[in-house]
Amino acid sequence: MIYKDENRQQFHLKNDYISYIFRVLENGHLGHLYFGPSLRHQKNFEHFQDLNNPVGYSTHTFSDNLAFSLETILQEYPLYGKGDYREPAIIVEDQNGKSISGFIFDYAEIQEGKPQLEGLPATYADSGQAETLVIHLYDSETDVKILLMYSIFERLPVITRSVQVINKGNQEVSLKRLFSCSVDLPDADYDMLHLSGAWARERHIKERPLVQGIQSIGSMRGSSSHQHNPFLVLKRKETTEHQGTAVGIQFVYSGNFLGQVEVDHYENTRIQMGIHPSQFTWGLKPGESFQAPEAIVTFSKKGLNGLSTSLHDLHRKHLIAEKWKGIERPILINNWEATYFDFNEEKLLNIVDQAKALGVELFVLDDGWFGKRNDDTSSLGDWFVNQTKLPKGIGDLADSVKKKGLAFGLWFEPEMVNPDSDLYRNHPEWVIGYPEQQLTFGRNQLVLDFSNPEVVDHIYKQMKKIIEETKLDYIKWDMNRNITEAASLSLENQGEFFHRYILGVYRLYERLLQEFPEVLFESCAGGGGRFDAGMMYYAPQAWTSDDTDSVDRLKIQYGTSLAFPLYSIGSHVSAVPNHQTWRETSLVHRGNVAYFGTFGYELDPESLTEQEKKEVREQINFYKEYRTLIRDGDFLRLLSPFRHNEVAWMVCAKDRSEALVGWYKTLSTPNPKNNQVLRLAGLKSEGRYYVSEYNRSYFGDELMYRGLPLPIEFNGVNEHMAERRGDYQSLVVHMKEIDES
Ligand code: GLA
Repeated sequence: MIYKDENRQQFHLKNDYISYIFRVLENGHLGHLYFGPSLRHQKNFEHFQDLNNPVGYSTHTFSDNLAFSLETILQEYPLYGKGDYREPAIIVEDQNGKSISGFIFDYAEIQEGKPQLEGLPATYADSGQAETLVIHLYDSETDVKILLMYSIFERLPVITRSVQVINKGNQEVSLKRLFSCSVDLPDADYDMLHLSGAWARERHIKERPLVQGIQSIGSMRGSSSHQHNPFLVLKRKETTEHQGTAVGIQFVYSGNFLGQVEVDHYENTRIQMGIHPSQFTWGLKPGESFQAPEAIVTFSKKGLNGLSTSLHDLHRKHLIAEKWKGIERPILINNWEATYFDFNEEKLLNIVDQAKALGVELFVLDDGWFGKRNDDTSSLGDWFVNQTKLPKGIGDLADSVKKKGLAFGLWFEPEMVNPDSDLYRNHPEWVIGYPEQQLTFGRNQLVLDFSNPEVVDHIYKQMKKIIEETKLDYIKWDMNRNITEAASLSLENQGEFFHRYILGVYRLYERLLQEFPEVLFESCAGGGGRFDAGMMYYAPQAWTSDDTDSVDRLKIQYGTSLAFPLYSIGSHVSAVPNHQTWRETSLVHRGNVAYFGTFGYELDPESLTEQEKKEVREQINFYKEYRTLIRDGDFLRLLSPFRHNEVAWMVCAKDRSEALVGWYKTLSTPNPKNNQVLRLAGLKSEGRYYVSEYNRSYFGDELMYRGLPLPIEFNGVNEHMAERRGDYQSLVVHMKEIDES
């Protein structure tokens, strides 16, 4: 998969889908040559970048060669100060504050498989599944090395990248910026697409044409954030869900990040992703090294759906823990919206009884079971049972739940503390910020200093005890505020704080998973505030949003699916009127939206009528029947909620033998047209598919090009025939290929 030409110093990473090509330039820097669909290998690719044509008004490396200007040459890992005036990928300073920019190519090596990154989440692959190219760059003046790592996956259009900096010299140096990847593309005819939003409306798709200058997304909140997801796409204007090309970059990281795209004065495009350089300085003493997190770089020539299916496959096969591959996730019920803080054992066990009768598999006890917590003003940090609410103890409750036939899960917010808690009273020095500062609050809580291993260790011990006592099956790990006053009493260099904080979070995950590999983690941060590939490595599913309104969820889940598989998207049916929007939608609509994710309920079953209970039982049976398809299939988006009043998507089995289609219409239309259809995708043209809900079959080509007929819509005069009417219509149908004969 990797061609390394020692003489010409050219590198070609290639599989059946993509090629990524670069070379060592005459000045020892790396010049980027190509990233796109797979190219036949050639002995020489130098002609991809013409270096004979003199450049006007620019600086040039060699006094006698006006053609060699770093201002115009596509760079592989750009440095500051040598004539490339675009944003550098790295800034390392010596003790005088001078930027070290003498990094030149030293040597390259190829490794089978893919090395893991110590202390950091990353994709993994065995030998045979991936190959890794490691490029060594070296600055002889300071004795500092940079290692650029590129892994190419055999069966996916994906390259992962990361960077390591090693100080081999005898002077301390300082890292000011270290992007995990930088890719220069030779034109700017792209739209930038990203997933942005806010609490309760996360990951809406935003698109804008590139223009000269820098356009960026990022987070300075200590978490990847509700506001911007560490994921960027550059797509051609004509690219749609189904066709056209696109480049995608996803960051496997959960802390502060910056994703930026710079278009220069020659319409070259530089796309970069990494730890946010603002507030970041990392001291490297002699002998020390720094490992940057991983970035996933992918290319699609099959539209945005193609880009998503590659990322979904990568996550399913090479990112989530081995243990959760090919295993069904339990259908859960969470008591948060049913009881909030107001519960006791009797109330909870009543929910459990009812949920069991409905077919639910896991009961999750949310916030309020610990310390003296009766509202959000106290007890975070005190991870021992709330005796007033649960006098018989948490172990006893867990036993009762398990005896009733459900698995048991608990909510934790490990990184947080309320000033009204034993933890804070005993260790006020364990919160983030200097004691003499006026600290900023969020939801009455402060953030624990996870950059301090002592703090992480203390929380680990408390959680371990509870996990053992309850034989816990599942943990919802929440994080309900962002970081302010970012500083730690335990650190010398506060520029290291943010990264050390997230390393502390990863360390706690790592320890808990090592000790309790059976526990399923669901990450959460006030809903979807830390929904990123870094978290997915530890917690293979995430609570997508605190907004469970099924109309809003169409946008949230549609956007989220661009970068994450359904297998990781927590989607639950909740009560109406919805607690976030006060909107009323039918149980059918709520179920039809929630099926496309990891399914569950967020309501009190006691409040359901007998008819509703019957519907819920049917929903659960339906999900159980199709969840393997939902887990393993290709998710194809058909109609976007960001463009239409109708939304549609489908999951198609890898072998195209079956599919599950979801269609939704948000507002009803007066005088709608007859013969409405929904055009599907991904099926076998010649296949014949039996649609169980319609009790008839259709050909694949017919379903894709003519469309699946939609039920007759109410139009004011067809009262006797109308099969759907009013706002918030929906339809979910399953189709299976049948034998023609
Ligand atoms: C956050 C979560 C909710 C719930 C509450 C509990 O907001 O996103 O699902 O767990 O905290 O306080």
